Amino acid sequence: MLAGFQIGAVDIRPGLLLAPMAGVTDSSFRQLVRECNPGTLGLVVSEFISIEGLTRADLRSHAMLRHVATERPLSIQIFGGDIDRMAEAAALVQAVGADVVDINCGCPVPKVVRRGGGAELMRTPQHLERLLRAVRRELSVPLTLKIRTGWDDESVNCVEIAEMAEAVGVAMITVHGRTRMQAYHGQADWERVGQVKRAVSIPVVGSGDVLSIEGAEARLATSGADGIAIGRGALGDPWIFSRLARAWGIGQSFDTSLDRVPLDRLALLERYRDLLAEMHPERTVAARLRMFSTSLFRGFPGAALLRQQLGATRGSEELLVLLRATSNAAVRVPEAA
Ligand SMILES: Cc1cc2nc3c(=O)[nH]c(=O)nc-3n(C[C@H](O)[C@H](O)[C@H](O)COP(=O)(O)O)c2cc1C
Repeated sequence: MLAGFQIGAVDIRPGLLLAPMAGVTDSSFRQLVRECNPGTLGLVVSEFISIEGLTRADLRSHAMLRHVATERPLSIQIFGGDIDRMAEAAALVQAVGADVVDINCGCPVPKVVRRGGGAELMRTPQHLERLLRAVRRELSVPLTLKIRTGWDDESVNCVEIAEMAEAVGVAMITVHGRTRMQAYHGQADWERVGQVKRAVSIPVVGSGDVLSIEGAEARLATSGADGIAIGRGALGDPWIFSRLARAWGIGQSFDTSLDRVPLDRLALLERYRDLLAEMHPERTVAARLRMFSTSLFRGFPGAALLRQQLGATRGSEELLVLLRATSNAAVRVPEAA
């Protein structure tokens, strides 16, 4: 189950992926999750990066390209609607060392969609086809696509889009099993992931609502997907990839010393703070630590109070002091490493 697959020269082994999350999966978070899951995470995907920003030399967009060797294999995701800019941005992403270039066809946000990007690309399949051909010409690394099931329930077209993408040389498709109009509501429909899987012969990765081993097994049984991309599940449980790999006897042994695996939530948050501080100002470090701490402790006794207290902290150091004082923070996660 999910032993892995190859796209071009890139070995994705096992078939477990960290899903792209804007404002979350920057280099620091990707490194953190890699450290939590040595040998059990097949691919990490960046947050989406604007092709407008990249091709107009916007410093913030370029800063988002930052990565380190230990994250690899690494996919960098770009978004936008313009064909020439998409091709130029893809070449740039390849030049900075991405192992895979992924195009976002799923973002539901009006600001993105209005400019022809994200899920809007699924409503304009002929334009998307021209765009993919133009990008493919620029790349020697694999080109992949992340789609939703369609725009709304009346226009579900994930199978048609996937067939077209395969025909133009896309190497892998990730399907988030919701329509654009669903945004993040309701349940992801893994039956539709399965329809895509049966329609194409390139690897198909499913995305949506995987939070546990049982949940993953049920969705795999429904879809027959080659891989699973996990987003929010990794915010609550960053060791989830190791848990799945261990349950299914998949993954590879790396030389990575297990000494580096942060084994409790406090150690994890301290490591995350250090990684964040290497690339962000204190304000961002504190905001991201606050968000991640809240996800990590959701469902714990006293979580609501802790959340309030976290909200009142004035900086990352004060936040860690509060967490150190909270006994829950030291709960080990013994089966994770
Ligand atoms: C905070 C957040 C940011 C996201 N940003 C992106 C993104 O930049 N690109 C993308 O393709 N999907 C993005 N997604 C969608 C996820 O990759 C994923 O498909 C979706 O959340 C369903 O999977 P999950 O239930 O495992 O989170 C984002 C989701 C969340 C929650």
